[in-house]
Amino acid sequence: MRFSSRMDHLPPYLFAEIERKIAEKRRQGVDVISLGMGDPDLPTPGYIVEEMQRQLANPANHRYPSNAGIHEFGQAAARFYRRRFGVDIDPEAEFFPLLGSKEGLAHLCWSTLDAGDLSLVPDPGYPVYAGSSLLVGADVKYLPLRPENRFLPDLESVTPEEGRRAKLLFISYPNNPTAAVVEEGDDFYARVVDFAKRYDVAVVSDNAYSELTFDGYVAPSFLATPGAKDVGVEFFSFSKPFNMTGWRVGFGVGNRQILEPLWRLKTNLDSGMFEAIQRTAAFILDGPWDAVQEQMAIYTRRRDVLVEALRSIGLDAPSPKGTIYLWVPVPQGYTSTSFAEHVLDRAGVVVTPGNGYGPAGEGFIRISLTVPDDRIQEAVDRIEHSLSV
Ligand SMILES: Cc1ncc(COP(=O)(O)O)c(C=O)c1O
Repeated sequence: MRFSSRMDHLPPYLFAEIERKIAEKRRQGVDVISLGMGDPDLPTPGYIVEEMQRQLANPANHRYPSNAGIHEFGQAAARFYRRRFGVDIDPEAEFFPLLGSKEGLAHLCWSTLDAGDLSLVPDPGYPVYAGSSLLVGADVKYLPLRPENRFLPDLESVTPEEGRRAKLLFISYPNNPTAAVVEEGDDFYARVVDFAKRYDVAVVSDNAYSELTFDGYVAPSFLATPGAKDVGVEFFSFSKPFNMTGWRVGFGVGNRQILEPLWRLKTNLDSGMFEAIQRTAAFILDGPWDAVQEQMAIYTRRRDVLVEALRSIGLDAPSPKGTIYLWVPVPQGYTSTSFAEHVLDRAGVVVTPGNGYGPAGEGFIRISLTVPDDRIQEAVDRIEHSLSV
């Protein structure tokens, strides 16, 4: 058999590889603690499950949905964007349901890029940005996110020739994996708008973590920046704020010229989102959101336990203002991979090697807060022991 040469350029998905290693260790009888994947351990809040059960029981929701999404979902998303971010969205033309934001990010590459185009990708970054760009046959220019630049990309490092070839720029704050945020008063988003207008580049703001913030920090929307809707779209995900990773629900809002080809592509690929999920998503967006607050109190406690424990064993762990991750420099003498392998082999703890998110992630590991407090403490105890023997 012969397969698409396109697949030759596609590396194995980072977490598929990590899952394989975990399964292997578990087969060997190791009690693995996984601080690897960002898949919340907490369940979807009960009031959401109950609403879904109600919607599921309604036969009107059982038929093929329209790809464009039901009116109520778009209306609720528009109300949410106005209330939460101060951004006006036309629910008929500037809203589009996504089967999780990963799906949207991947397909946006297909509706935006041609082979030979340039895709501007944060490094380190969520692996789908580069993976899907490469799958289309586009070239990827990595924009390093470094601590000295507060993990913001240096847009001026893009040469005019590269700028003219570029069609897509990915940004995402609060950021996975670095946990960096865009502070109030920072002109970063304004600079992104200027850059996109200068080179006629479409911007995708991946807003998967806007609701997962700590210590009173409130994350803004890229679309709240003057001119942002002229150049960009933003993808919101229900996965992390509501522990709904398995539900596959998100949406895109913003520039209609960018969203329309994505919609046209998806009408040829999938048959829309289960209406029971869309109606539940609309119900969630209208609030109340006490459950998110309660959950952030749990993540805050875990973050504090972990940061303190890691510091006590000599790791320089910064305390993040957003996401559910810590981005931690590895101890001297280790690389990202050798440290991740060390803690898996000697401590049975999974952390994600930073270089899995791009070359500039070398020297870091990502630790996820998605396990209960007692397991977090046990993981740190085991890592400490593994470093002392
Ligand atoms: C930055 C970022 N974007 C998108 C996603 C995908 O989210 P979804 O479950 O909505 O596909 C993730 C998941 O980890 C993520 O970290």
